[in-house]
Amino acid sequence: HMKESLSIFVLGASGDLAKKKTYPSLLELYLHDHLPTHTIIVGYARSPKTDAEFRASIESYLKTDDKNKKTQFLNMCLYRSGGYDSIKAMRAVSAEMLVLEQETGLAVQNRLFYFAIPPNVFIPTGRTVKEAAYSTRGWNRVVVEKPFGHDLPSFNEMSLGMNAIFPEDEIYRIDHYLGKEMVQNLLVLRFANVNFEPVWNSHHISSVVITFKEDIGTQGRGGYFDSYGIIRDVMQNHLLQVLSLIAMEPPVRCAGDNFADHVRDEKVKLLRCIEPITLADTVLGQYVGNDKEEGYLDDKTVPQGSVTPTFATTVLRIKNTRWDGVPFIMKAGKALNERKAEVRIQFKPAPGASHMFPNIDIPRNELVLRLQPQEAMYMKTNVKSPGLNTVAVSSELDLTYHERYANTHMPEAYTRLILDVLHGKQAAFVRDDELRAAWEIFTPLLHKIEEEKIQPLPYAFGSRGPPESDALVESNGFVYHQGDYTWAKSRST
Ligand code: BG6
Repeated sequence: HMKESLSIFVLGASGDLAKKKTYPSLLELYLHDHLPTHTIIVGYARSPKTDAEFRASIESYLKTDDKNKKTQFLNMCLYRSGGYDSIKAMRAVSAEMLVLEQETGLAVQNRLFYFAIPPNVFIPTGRTVKEAAYSTRGWNRVVVEKPFGHDLPSFNEMSLGMNAIFPEDEIYRIDHYLGKEMVQNLLVLRFANVNFEPVWNSHHISSVVITFKEDIGTQGRGGYFDSYGIIRDVMQNHLLQVLSLIAMEPPVRCAGDNFADHVRDEKVKLLRCIEPITLADTVLGQYVGNDKEEGYLDDKTVPQGSVTPTFATTVLRIKNTRWDGVPFIMKAGKALNERKAEVRIQFKPAPGASHMFPNIDIPRNELVLRLQPQEAMYMKTNVKSPGLNTVAVSSELDLTYHERYANTHMPEAYTRLILDVLHGKQAAFVRDDELRAAWEIFTPLLHKIEEEKIQPLPYAFGSRGPPESDALVESNGFVYHQGDYTWAKSRST
C-alpha cells in the first residue's frame, strides 16, 4: 500500500463502460481501502474536457453515502484528451504522471492501463501505450474486455496483434462473469467438499442447464447488439466460462504459485473436448413486441429485417471420460419473463426408487447455483411430506447468501477483478488459448447462421422464449417436474 505508487490510465474514459463499470469499481476499491495511498487515475479519450467537466460527467455514477470520500476520490481523477494512436499526446500525459509519481518519493511506480475502448482501437492504443506510457520503475498491466473478435479468424488476428505488443502475463482479459460470487465459489464448492466430486460425472448427473435470462430488450443498444447477437454477447464468453469451471478436471492446485495457469490449463483442456455446436442442436429466437414493449425490430438502432438472434438454446457435448453422454444445455435470451442467471445440475433418478416407492412420483434431485439476482445454492432433495401423508415432496437444502451472510459486503464483479489485477492474479482472467478454443466451438454455427440467414423463431416480449426451446431441452433428457415446487426464497426478491 505505502511503498508503491499507482497510476491508472482509463482509456476511453468518456464512454459507457468507463462510467458505468470502471469508475464505480475503482471507487468501491477506494472506499474499502484497496487502492494504494498514492493513486492517480487519469482518464483519456478523444474529446477535450477539463478535469472539472470530466468529474461532473461521472459523478452521478459514483454511488456512496460518504460525501467526503467521494470528493477525495473525484480529486484523484484527472482527465486528458488525445487520439488513441497519438504517441505525442500520450507521451505528454505520461510525462505529467511521472512528475506526480516522482513527487511521492516512492521508488516503485506501477501503471495500470484499463482499455474501455472499442475493439477496433485495441491495437493502435496498445502500441501507443507501450511506446509512450509504460513505466520503467514498476509493473505495467493492461485490462481489456470483449468483444475479442467475432469469430475464430478475427480473434486470431487480434490475438496476434496484441501478443506482438504485450506478453501474456501483462494482459488481463476481463470476463466479468468470472468475478461473480457464485462463479468464484465453484473451486471451493467442488474441491473442498467430500460430497460433490464423487457424483460430479455421467454416472450420476443426467444434464446440466446454464441459463441467462434478462427481462429487458436491447434498449437502444441494438446497433452494437445486432452485429453480435446473443450467442456472441453472452454464450461464447460468460456462459462458456461458467461451464468450464463446472466441468473441468481438478487443477493441480487451487491457490498459490502458478494457480492462474493451473486453472486455465484445465479450462482449455476441457474446451478442447467439446465438439463444435450444430444447428440441429440449437433453437434461435427473436422477440416481438406487445402492447407495452417494443419488439427487437422496432428498436430504431436495429437494421430492418435483421435476423440476429436475441434468444438461443444450444447443447454442448463434452467428449471425455467424465462427461460423455451428459448434455450441457445453454439457454440465453433478452426480453424474457424474468432476470435470472443460474446453473441447474439435474441428477439421474435414485436407483430403485420407482420400485421401492410404487405409484409415488419421485422428482429428480437438482443442485441449483443461482448467480443472480440473490446468490444462492440449493439442492432439491426429496423428503416425506410433513404430517400424516407419506408422499415424497421436493424440498431443499438451502444456502441463501443474503440470509447466511447478512453482513458481508458483496462487491461488484468488476471490483473483485480489478483488485486481482492490482495483485497480479490472473486466474480469473481469460487466457489467449482459452478464447481460441472457445471460438472453435462456436464459429462453425455462427458462420452457418449468418451465411444461410437462418430465420429466428419469434417469441413474445416477456415470455419464456420459443416453445421449441423447451422441446430441445426435454429431448436432451432434462425432466421438468410437474409439481408445485418453487424455491421458497424466489418470492422474496
Ligand atoms: C454483457 C452483455 O457482457 O453482460 C450484456 O454485453 C448483458 O448484453 C450483460 O446484459 C449481463 O451482465 P450482468 O452482470 O448484468 O448479468
